[in-house]
Amino acid sequence: MDMYSIVGGTPLRGTVKISGSKNACLPLMCAALLGEGPTVLENVPDLRDIRSMMLLLEHLNVRAILKNGRMIIDPVSFDTDWVPYDMMRRMRASMYAFGPMITMRRRAAVSKPGGCNIGNRPIDLHLRGFRSLGVQMVERQGYVHARHEGLKGAEVNLLGSNGPSVGATCNVLMAAALAKGRSVIQHAAREPEVQELANLLVAMGARIDGIGSSTLAIDGVERLNGVKWRVQPDRIEAATFAVASVITDGDVLLTNVDPTTMTATLWALREWGAEIDHQGEDALRVRRGKDCPMRPLEIETGPYPGIATDTQPLISALLAVTPGVSKVRDTIYRDRFMHALELNRMGAKTTQEDDSLSINGVSSLEGAAVMASDLRAGAALTLAALAAEGSSQVRRIYHVDRGYERFDQKLAALGARIVRTAEEFQDPGAEIDWSSVEQAEQVSEVETRA
Ligand code: EPZ
Repeated sequence: MDMYSIVGGTPLRGTVKISGSKNACLPLMCAALLGEGPTVLENVPDLRDIRSMMLLLEHLNVRAILKNGRMIIDPVSFDTDWVPYDMMRRMRASMYAFGPMITMRRRAAVSKPGGCNIGNRPIDLHLRGFRSLGVQMVERQGYVHARHEGLKGAEVNLLGSNGPSVGATCNVLMAAALAKGRSVIQHAAREPEVQELANLLVAMGARIDGIGSSTLAIDGVERLNGVKWRVQPDRIEAATFAVASVITDGDVLLTNVDPTTMTATLWALREWGAEIDHQGEDALRVRRGKDCPMRPLEIETGPYPGIATDTQPLISALLAVTPGVSKVRDTIYRDRFMHALELNRMGAKTTQEDDSLSINGVSSLEGAAVMASDLRAGAALTLAALAAEGSSQVRRIYHVDRGYERFDQKLAALGARIVRTAEEFQDPGAEIDWSSVEQAEQVSEVETRA
């Protein structure tokens, strides 16, 4: 296993090109299965989840080739109707194959993905959606077995206890595009990645009204075509580099971004004290505001256009080094705070209270060995380490590889002191300065007496 070895304290400076969006690309790759003829995707990031989806397509007997950000998917020999546990377990987004499989093959069996490190992640809304379209399903031995005699357009309500679902909306949208008659999805997710899938389907020949709203009306068509499509920039990667710039007191120009997809995050960063200048339509210069104090925040994540849950760990890392008391509530994944425990190992002062994190900002963090529990936690810990005093090791970075293209190389190009190595380096905490322990003891004795 690899880890990042990081020496903090260098302000990041320069230009970084943001890659295509992982979360937009994954459903687009599955939508390509619906077309008669190949689909070509451009601006595709080369990262682990995309490679995992390519393996899944291969398992379905569909060829996908990725070269220089261009992916060609030819569904001509798509002939498989099950996805094994090993594929579902690796990546929850494998669920995106379910919609096209059930649509094109009339039957499908997929292993249920189960929970993951960011909390409970059920698939009940996906199943509710398919049932509404006339799919019969049974659950057996951890698998969902589904079949139908022709999809029929219907009213589909996708409101869940934690709000709308991106994945369920995408899955039902793909099936409804080729169902007989009109479907209306109520409480559809409105995330830019959902909008992009809907727009791609329209380019393929689908008839969809209400794109961008929470009610989508779909008039099923007989067939869809393959198309050429450019994937939107990754708004979460852009947010990551924006936070990297301000947490290190740097000055970074982000290019290939779509600021319209990240207004809530930009608002939060401005409230915090960041200066963010638009440079043309697709570039943002991000730094700390001149003479502007860093301010603690009280924020909560929410469905789009709210603050994305995927940026919550990044913002939490920033608030850990922001004087004052901040509160961060995650309404999407109410327990997504594993990163906070690791931040505390670096000297942060955070406490989880139900679905919120209370953060008592410290003036600086100390380098330490920490462990990524998931993709965004890994990114957040990397940013914290870049801002910390001394050296850190961020372990289990295979999580980071899932969703960031050349993350360490992009950071290093901005001046970060970050190296990827095998996980066997010396623990920075092993260099013990016994005299500092004595001094700390004396200080605490004095404090206790006082
Ligand atoms: C997508 O996951 C993203 N993944 C996640 O990003 C992101 O955190 C999430 O949307 C929310 O924005 C991809 O796009 C590949 P949901 P998804 O269905 O579609 C509950 C990252 O770091 N729910 O919108 O799986 C669910 O538990 C990843 O890049 C149900 O209750 O998320 C959650 O509380 C992590 N029943 C809420 O809805 C269901 O059937 C939103 O989940 C489905 C979801």
